[in-house]
Amino acid sequence: MSKMINVALPKGRLGKKVYDMFEAAGYECPEIREDNRKLIFENQEKGIRYFWVKPSDVTIYVERGAADVGIAGKDILLEYEPDVYELLDLEMGKCRMAVAAPRDYRDNPERTLHVATKFPNIARDYYARENRDIDIINLHGSIELAPVVGLSDVIVDIVETGKTLKENDLEVFETVAPISARFIANKASFRFKTKEIEAIQSALSASVAARRGGRK
Ligand code: PRP
Repeated sequence: MSKMINVALPKGRLGKKVYDMFEAAGYECPEIREDNRKLIFENQEKGIRYFWVKPSDVTIYVERGAADVGIAGKDILLEYEPDVYELLDLEMGKCRMAVAAPRDYRDNPERTLHVATKFPNIARDYYARENRDIDIINLHGSIELAPVVGLSDVIVDIVETGKTLKENDLEVFETVAPISARFIANKASFRFKTKEIEAIQSALSASVAARRGGRK
């Protein structure tokens, strides 16, 4: 008898793509595609239950065991370092964490650097490795505005297409880390539901490999 697996999916475009992967792997739950506002969907027969979760909250559900597995961005994993297993790189939702600044910005290493970001821990770690004194300005969105209006010197933020930077006359100065979506698991769940979680992992892994093959 298979045990029920609870999956925290990130709400939004990435989550829908990830659900497609689960569906193709045989974990379908057609009701999820209906236009409704429900947050939980289950297919008892397949032993799977999905939750739609705010993307930055996926690790909280998984770390605390409300979800057995989930899909979280590497940015969130680096920032919060949740106590979970990172089982697979899904190679989707690809972007990078970068330092950006106005095009004409010239750094003075003698001065404290003012850094605006939604990722204070990532920024702090990065500049600690560079041995640089910084002042973190912790914002929650529209980070690109900060250096334009003089709130900060630089930003540490996610760059996907680069459009937001370009349209605000900013450019990337350094890349901090490549980012993509990861399949994660609660540690106790992995111990008690190893067979079920590994079955999902290998189905997703095959799908990642097939997609990679298709791109060649
Ligand atoms: C993210 C990120 C950048 C933007 C990058 O913001 O913080 O602002 O996307 O994407 P691009 O390189 O394709 O332009 P998000 O849309 O999450 O909004 P936010 O301002 O609330 O952080």
